[in-house]
Amino acid sequence: MVSNARIPNPGWRLLWLFLCIMIQLQLVRAQTAVSTLFVPDTDTIVSFNLPPNSDDINFYVITPDWYQYTAIGFGTSMSDALMLVMYPSADHKGVTVSPRRATGNTEPVYSPATQLTLHETTINDNFDMIVNATCRGCQLFTKVGTAAPMLFAVGPGLDLSSDDPDARIRRHSAYGRFTLNLTRATGPGGIGNPTTTTTTTTPDAILSSDDGSLLKGGDAKAATAHGILYAIVALAVAPFDSLVAGALGARWAWVHGVTATVYFAFVLGAMVPGVLVSGEHVATQQFRTGHQVLGLLTVVALTVMFGWGIALSWIKRSAKKRGQEPPESTRLLGVVHRWVCRGIWVLLLVNVGVGLKLSEQRMVLILGYVALAVGVIAFLVPVYFCLWRISKKRKEKEEGLEMPTIYDHHGFN
Ligand SMILES: *[C@@H]1O[C@H](CO)[C@@H](O)[C@H](O)[C@H]1NC(C)=O
Ligand SMILES: *[C@@H]1O[C@H](CO)[C@@H](O)[C@H](O)[C@H]1NC(C)=O
Repeated sequence: MVSNARIPNPGWRLLWLFLCIMIQLQLVRAQTAVSTLFVPDTDTIVSFNLPPNSDDINFYVITPDWYQYTAIGFGTSMSDALMLVMYPSADHKGVTVSPRRATGNTEPVYSPATQLTLHETTINDNFDMIVNATCRGCQLFTKVGTAAPMLFAVGPGLDLSSDDPDARIRRHSAYGRFTLNLTRATGPGGIGNPTTTTTTTTPDAILSSDDGSLLKGGDAKAATAHGILYAIVALAVAPFDSLVAGALGARWAWVHGVTATVYFAFVLGAMVPGVLVSGEHVATQQFRTGHQVLGLLTVVALTVMFGWGIALSWIKRSAKKRGQEPPESTRLLGVVHRWVCRGIWVLLLVNVGVGLKLSEQRMVLILGYVALAVGVIAFLVPVYFCLWRISKKRKEKEEGLEMPTIYDHHGFN
């Protein structure tokens, strides 16, 4: 979701680039020891300066506030990088700069140990966040040289105004890796004031979706697959299985065996992308959110019920082979199986909704799902009721036709 709204075509973009560089470099190139990154797709300019005899990095950022955040990182990949995440402050007048570090390829976590000195942060009339700051000791995070590895990312087009450096952010919607000649940025401290000295130089690095150096990274495919698969399970597979179980008599029990196996496989398969996504986000790494706890409980319960069903049908079948009626206990086991499975279905329906909430889906989607779930329930409950009546009648009829047997006093059937 890289917004190109302000720069409709490459010609305009080039003109814009030229103008920007003319204006901005006047601003930041007062001292020559500056390296600049330019990201035309996101209207972002980042300049760096490395004061000599110091581990600090001075940086100056101009970036629009329409992304949830803009982040720059020092390092080759997110797993070993120090990220500086920038988003508007609570009053939307300044900018919160949150240093974050990741362990593995996951969402970076707020790193209070990193010291930042903010010289100036504002949001101007043009909706640009402007940050002039120094990152203390940050040269240690990058290979200072002629090709220092760096990262850039912007968040999705969501509002975030917060003073909390630990504010929750979503996965980036566009990102890129680049290298900067930091040797060139090493020189007298600071990124200078606007001066009359105009030096038109090209930026040291450009990230652009045109040449593929700025990549889209917003579509969390695993999370989408997880959600869609479970919606199918909750809205179709589970109710279908229980319809089959209720509608078909003992002779067709094997069909329920097939649908239950499909159902169980679906639930296990759909869990996999969910577990993978969980590891990527701070909020879900511990598997402690309601959605995850409920989900794991549901999977455990369904696993137990799957085994339970197999055992039950095995007991019934072997009794039949011996020409006996199944033991009386199977009746209770059957009732428990039925009701627990109905409970599991309800849990699945609810948990898909909870998951949509957890992944911060749009309200329209959540309400649409709720409407669909209520519709499915409203349709199926009368159907189940009819099935129940029919099977009750059938049993009564069978009982009436059957010769009294010695089992009758057990109240079986
Ligand atoms: C990096 O910058 C330095 C200083 O301006 C320059 O001498 C050197 O040639 C540059 N190296 C590359 C690879 O651009
Ligand atoms: C950034 O802040 C430093 C330190 O206060 C200051 O010297 C410098 O002029 C500022 N740069 C810009 C471009 O405003």
